[in-house]
Order: sequence, then C-alpha cells, then structure tokens
Amino acid sequence: MFDEKGDSIISANMLRVVIASTIFVSSLVAGLNDLPNVLLIVADDLGYADLGVYGSPTINTPNLDRLANEGAKFTQFIVGGPICTPSRSSMLTGRLPIRNGIYCNQDYPIDDLFRVFYPSSVYCLPDSEITIGDALETTHSSAMLGKWHLGHNEEYNCLPGNGNQGFDFFYGLPYSHEEGYPGPFPEGLVFPPVPLMCNGYFVEQPFNMSDYTSRLTTLTEKLIWRYAEGQKSLAASHVKDDHHINDSPISGLEIAYQELDKGKQNFSRPFFIHLAYENPHVPLFLSNSYSGKSRRGMYGDSVEEMDQSIGTILTALEQTGLAENTLIIFMSDNGAWVNPSNGLSTRPVKGMTPFDGGSNGAFRDGKGSTWEGGMRVPFIIWGPDVAPGVTIRSPVAAMDIFPTILDYMGQPLPSDRVLDGASLRPLLTGANTADPHECLYYWREHTLFAIRCGQYKAHFITRSGFNTSDPGVSHDPPLLFNIEWDIAESLPLDPDEYADTIDYLVSQANKHTSSIEHVPSLYIPQDFRHMPCCPRGSTVTATTRVWEQCVCSRVTYQDV
Ligand SMILES: *[C@@H]1O[C@H](CO)[C@@H](O)[C@H](O)[C@H]1NC(C)=O
Ligand SMILES: *[C@@H]1O[C@H](CO)[C@@H](O)[C@H](O)[C@H]1NC(C)=O
Ligand SMILES: *[C@@H]1O[C@H](CO)[C@@H](O)[C@H](O)[C@H]1NC(C)=O
Repeated sequence: MFDEKGDSIISANMLRVVIASTIFVSSLVAGLNDLPNVLLIVADDLGYADLGVYGSPTINTPNLDRLANEGAKFTQFIVGGPICTPSRSSMLTGRLPIRNGIYCNQDYPIDDLFRVFYPSSVYCLPDSEITIGDALETTHSSAMLGKWHLGHNEEYNCLPGNGNQGFDFFYGLPYSHEEGYPGPFPEGLVFPPVPLMCNGYFVEQPFNMSDYTSRLTTLTEKLIWRYAEGQKSLAASHVKDDHHINDSPISGLEIAYQELDKGKQNFSRPFFIHLAYENPHVPLFLSNSYSGKSRRGMYGDSVEEMDQSIGTILTALEQTGLAENTLIIFMSDNGAWVNPSNGLSTRPVKGMTPFDGGSNGAFRDGKGSTWEGGMRVPFIIWGPDVAPGVTIRSPVAAMDIFPTILDYMGQPLPSDRVLDGASLRPLLTGANTADPHECLYYWREHTLFAIRCGQYKAHFITRSGFNTSDPGVSHDPPLLFNIEWDIAESLPLDPDEYADTIDYLVSQANKHTSSIEHVPSLYIPQDFRHMPCCPRGSTVTATTRVWEQCVCSRVTYQDV
C-alpha cells in the first residue's frame, strides 16, 4: 500500500540514488587523472641505521628525513628475502619469492652460490606473475629506472621496457653492477662487463658508473615534467622550466630521450615510476662532487648522493604541481652488507673494503641472513592521506606495497593467486591501527628459517648472511626471542617456560609452509649465450661471447 508519504520516501530515495550515481559517474570520468602518481624508490643494501631519521650519527639525509617527517616512518618493516633478487620480486608482486620461483632449490654448499640472477641466467621473473606495473597497466603509464636484477634473457622478454614486466620504459642495469668487469666479481669467470641498457638497446658496455646517480636524477626529473605537461596539471604559475634538462641532456641520456620521444609512453596518464638506485651497494662509486662530503667515508657519500638525488626529484614534483597527488614509497632491498669485501674478491678494490658496507644498528648480522639485520630496513611512505609525521610500529613487510598501491587506486586484488601482503592504507590514515599481519615469514631460499608472530620470533635455522663455511645450525625446539624487547636477538627465551608460544609459532609455520604450492626454482639454469653483450657484428657468435668482446662503450643509437 502506497500513501503519499510512501511515495515521497521512494522519490527521495530515488533522488539519492540518482545523485549518488551522478557523483559516481563524474568521479569515474574525472577519476583517472585523479588517481595518484606512484614513485617507488629502492636503495641497494642500505642499512637500518644509515639515514638521519633512523638514527645515523654520521650520515646526513635531509631529504629522506623530510619525507619521513612529513609522511610515515615504519620501524618494524621487513623485506621478502634477505638479498636483492628475491626481495625485489616479492616487492613487485606482493608474493613471497618462494611463490615466484625466485629461490635456490639446492642445499649447502651450492645454495650459497645461487641466490640471485647472474649474467648467464636463463630465466627471470615469470611473465605469469603480476607486477605492480602490470596491475596498473590500464590506469597508469610506467617507467623503471635503475637496477632490475630479476633476469634479462631477451628470448623471454625478461627485461622491463616496451611493456615487458609491466613497464613501458626502462633505463638501467639488467643486474647488479659487481657482476662482471669492471666490477670486482667474478673477475676469473667470463661474465661480460656490465651494460647500461634502455628499452632493449645497449647504451654503454662497459658502463662507467661515476655519473650513474646523476643520470637517474635527470631522467626522473625529465619524466616528471613530461607527465606534468601530459596530465595538464601545470598550474599557470608553473612556468614550463625543464629547459635545463632539455637543452643539453647529459651524455648517456640521448638514447633515453629518443625513446621517450617515440610516443610509447602515454604521458596524459598518472605515472608509476620505479626508481632503483645502485647506491650504496659495493663497489661504491661516486660522482666527483660527492667525494669526501660525509663523515662516513665513501659509504656515507654514496647515501648522501642518493639523498640529494631524491631532493632534486622532490623539487621537480613540487615545481610541476604533481607533489600533492604523488605517493612516494622508499625502502632498502635488504639489510646492510656487513664486511662486504668478505668472500667476493681477494684483490683490493676501491669501494669494497670492510668499511664500505652500512650499519644495521642494533640488529644482528646483515644482508643474506634471516637475523633481523638481514631483513629489517628503513621504510617510508609519503603522500596523499598519510598522517604527517606518524611513526608506525606495526610489523609489516614488502609484500604489503602491492596491495597498498592497489588500494590507493580503488582496484581489487588479483583473485587467482595467493598474495602475502595487506594494504597499509588504514595504518597510514590512522583509520585502523591494528597490526595487519598475524605472522611474518623469513624465508632463505627453499626453507622457512624463521617466523615472527606478534613480539615473538622463532628461528628454525640460523646461518650467517655471507660465510660460505657456515652450513647453518638447526634448532629444535626453535630459538625463541622477544624481538620487541630484545631487538638484538641476543637473549634466547627458555623453551620450557615458553612452550605454548613455541607451539603456536610452530603450528603457524607449518600451516604456512604447507600452503606453499610448488613452483620450480628459476636460478640454476645458466647459458653463456644469454649474457648481455652489445652487438659487435659477425665476430660475436653464441660461443664467442666472452667478455673481451663485449666492449662497445659508448654505443651510439645508430649502431644498434
Ligand atoms: C669514469 O668516468 C670518470 C668521470 O668522467 C673518470 O674520471 C674515470 O676515469 C672513468 N673511469 C673509467 C674506468 O673509465
Ligand atoms: C592515453 O591515456 C588516456 C587515459 O587513459 C586515454 O584516454 C588515451 O586514449 C590514451 N592515449 C593513447 C594514445 O593511447
Ligand atoms: C664462518 O663459519 C664457520 C662455521 O660456522 C666459522 O667457523 C667461521 O669462524 C666463520 N667465519 C667468519 C669470518 O665468521
């Protein structure tokens, strides 16, 4: 039965629906350009205690300190694996490296040798994985600048750029700069000199790293200005002022600029830029202007050069008006490499002495290990909705980055696979400050070495990060620490007194490991034919690709 009153209620409801759907439609129309830009910055082997805002007594990092002071600083963030390749795969996919196939399936002592992709590696991060770039494919335009290290075989489109791996554009190194002459390792093998590449082209081989950081800075600035013009967000007061970048591209960026001019990037979209510095990974390199600036030797200089680069990029974001709608995420790929000269090279190499690694502060051990020093790193998020100056003490992990970014885009998570992360947005806005994870997992290659639930961390195996004489020690019952009260993991708890806690952590670990579907390991197959070697005409064949022949620096665009 409908009376007048009822009718009017219906009309009011209908009106509300109409208004709501109008708002919805107009927000969809306006929506795409309103989605935030994302700048995901990764430092290489930066330790927990190597930024001013994380307590470095000697290294001056005003720009990263500013990001933390205006954004969110996390104190209990761990990466997905204690070394470069697995850490980056889990950061980009939101999944543990064991699910990506990015792990070694061999036991000691072989497992120490295959922990990352090498120049001769056949495989890479599989195409079937969804990277952040893939997930943002329909809304954003993407670029990867810097170190990739997730495989590079051309046959499988392993390198980013040209749409591969979710990135429209790539300028950087296919793997770590020490993997091949003139790096220190492994000089006795036949790895070619490390190449600088751009969208599948060789830019230089070997690559002289000394101006690398400034190239990445300039290229990032350039991209930001291009996007600002494309997004038409330049306010009238923002006079187009990238001439200092346009007029004289610093040497080595010409190919990058030509590639950008080809129109493959859609500059009218929001951007996703993934900027992966090589700083401060050994062997350290610096542009001349940074030598001797810090109180912490070459290592501190390298961190400070990166910080200045980030400051320049922040200025570009502000000058273009894009800063207010850009999410900046900063992390290190793993803990600092303690005594990095150890085991890699016997000859003295500049930038590769025992003092050229960083500091993990009070945390035990470093890069390579599942002690906190290997996996606990600085993590800063700055941008829209982030409560300014907040310190977030919840235990979180690098797999959270993928769902956090998708949450900002209002996009659902892929439903056809297991994700190991959770969105951090409720923590960032303060809407919900509950810990997003019941437990966090510490994998080293094919084995779960440790688990953390709440304040307790149980080690099933402990092993040093880089000591090829250390096969590791198994613990049954597991070695238990309260890592909120004992951040140095130096006071093991009594297993009898904590029997219930141990039972709980063990059952959580068993539940987790039994949920891991088997994915084949991708590290072991090696084939020298896949080592990146700049084109040298007919002299280079599959069998003659030894490093002496891969010297084309500098390659001009016409040559390739
Ligand atoms: C690399 O470039 C710098 C600066 O141009 C130069 O001083 C240095 O000698 C170069 N190194 C090599 C190995 O060519
Ligand atoms: C660029 O992206 C915008 C927004 O998604 C779209 O409308 C436009 O058609 C795209 N341009 C090209 C050339 O693909
Ligand atoms: C490496 O590990 C072995 C076995 O645990 C140990 O004896 C040796 O002292 C370690 N070396 C270093 C440099 O710590």
